Amino acid sequence: MNITMIGTGYVGLVTGTCFSEFGHNVTCVDKIKEKIETLKKGEIPIYEPGLEQLVKKNISEGRLHFTTELSEAIPDAEAVFLAVGTPSSRRGDGYADLTYVYQAAREIAPYLNDYTVIVDKSTVPVGTARQVKRIIQEENPNADFDVASNPEFLREGAAINDFMRPDRVVIGVESERAEKVLREIYKPLYLIETPIVCTTIETAELSKYAANAFLAIKISFINEIANVCEAVGADVADIAKAIGMDGRIGSKFLHPGPGYGGSCFPKDTTALMRIVQEYGEHVRLVETAVEVNFAQKARMVKKIRDMLGGSEAGKTIAFLGLTFKPETDDMREAPSITIITSLMEKGARVKAHDPKGMDEAKKVLPEGVIYTRNAYEACEGADAVVLMTEWNQYRALDLKKIKNLLNEPIFIDLRNVYDPKNMKKLGFKYTGVGRK
Ligand code: UGA
Repeated sequence: MNITMIGTGYVGLVTGTCFSEFGHNVTCVDKIKEKIETLKKGEIPIYEPGLEQLVKKNISEGRLHFTTELSEAIPDAEAVFLAVGTPSSRRGDGYADLTYVYQAAREIAPYLNDYTVIVDKSTVPVGTARQVKRIIQEENPNADFDVASNPEFLREGAAINDFMRPDRVVIGVESERAEKVLREIYKPLYLIETPIVCTTIETAELSKYAANAFLAIKISFINEIANVCEAVGADVADIAKAIGMDGRIGSKFLHPGPGYGGSCFPKDTTALMRIVQEYGEHVRLVETAVEVNFAQKARMVKKIRDMLGGSEAGKTIAFLGLTFKPETDDMREAPSITIITSLMEKGARVKAHDPKGMDEAKKVLPEGVIYTRNAYEACEGADAVVLMTEWNQYRALDLKKIKNLLNEPIFIDLRNVYDPKNMKKLGFKYTGVGRK
């Protein structure tokens, strides 16, 4: 099949590359010329495990192409996926900014030739596909096309595997013709019996928000239970294990921490709140999950302050990990930003290390953060160490060495990587989240 991907951001690049790996002929379009030139050479602008190899392989096998020209990419496409950005609106009101989606629709319209399915891949509010349809009809009344919604459920850092082995694929369509095209595109997944949920366009659009909102609620829930554990002296890791074994609850997304971040949960939860408000409805659980998440970050600041004896002023704190989660260089909405900024405002000095995220971190963290070459250098002469992001390389630290490098053996483990008993045996003043 001939597929065109509009937008070579995270979603567009992963999706386009994986479709070419399925055997389809894929053309990825982006307006930024330099980006397209770089991609043509098989170099990718983001860090995502396995992606660069897959891009190179499919370019060399002739199935993956990059261009800035819609006139080359659209006329022969049987499906055009819109994977452009939907940032939070610049008005700061939580709405998703759909400028790029509508602009893309307007720009592709004149080039549509034979029957084409225009698929929304970006996370968009309910009703967006209908608007895309209206725009294309306005721009090109003769175009033979259908619109569809095909939300993505990829996690950064695990996107290739999530794409190749999804729990399900959701397609929202309004005609059998469009359904046939989308089923054909995902045919390689039939071999591994991936369920395809075929539904209306509005249902597909909302299902993405519902999934992310539910996961955000699940994380905020376990973070609140962690706080209760701290009050009563219980262990949240054991509680997560105990409740997670109940098939109705499930063990995933029950890891307490400093609060969720990233480009999806914070944006999609607020966007959902705004969408339902327009219909006079509420999503109170989602609203609360968002509040709990803010409070969790503030609670982490207090936790660090308490461990430092009540004040961070004049203290040096080592941060291990800065990105919102491991295996990515993404700093968007990373809890480290709020936590480090608050501590520095109160006079703390920060030394930090992250395996992939330091370039991005430099753009968003306050000036004055000292970036180090490794975890040990960050700990040298620090008054406490905070394990912020659970990168694999921080899971087997030389703890004796860390203890010797620190001024004070204070270890604040915001991801519960280490065993509290063992840490205390080693002589650390240790705290995790939701366990003593
Ligand atoms: C999330 C969803 O998991 C994907 O299914 C979805 O496609 C994607 O958003 C999206 O909308 O595009 P992502 O933001 O890449 O993916 O990362 P997650 O692995 O979901 O982690 C999000 C945040 O939650 C991280 O800050 C992580 O540390 C935190 N988290 C996750 C916890 O604090 N506890 C957990 O148990 C799980």
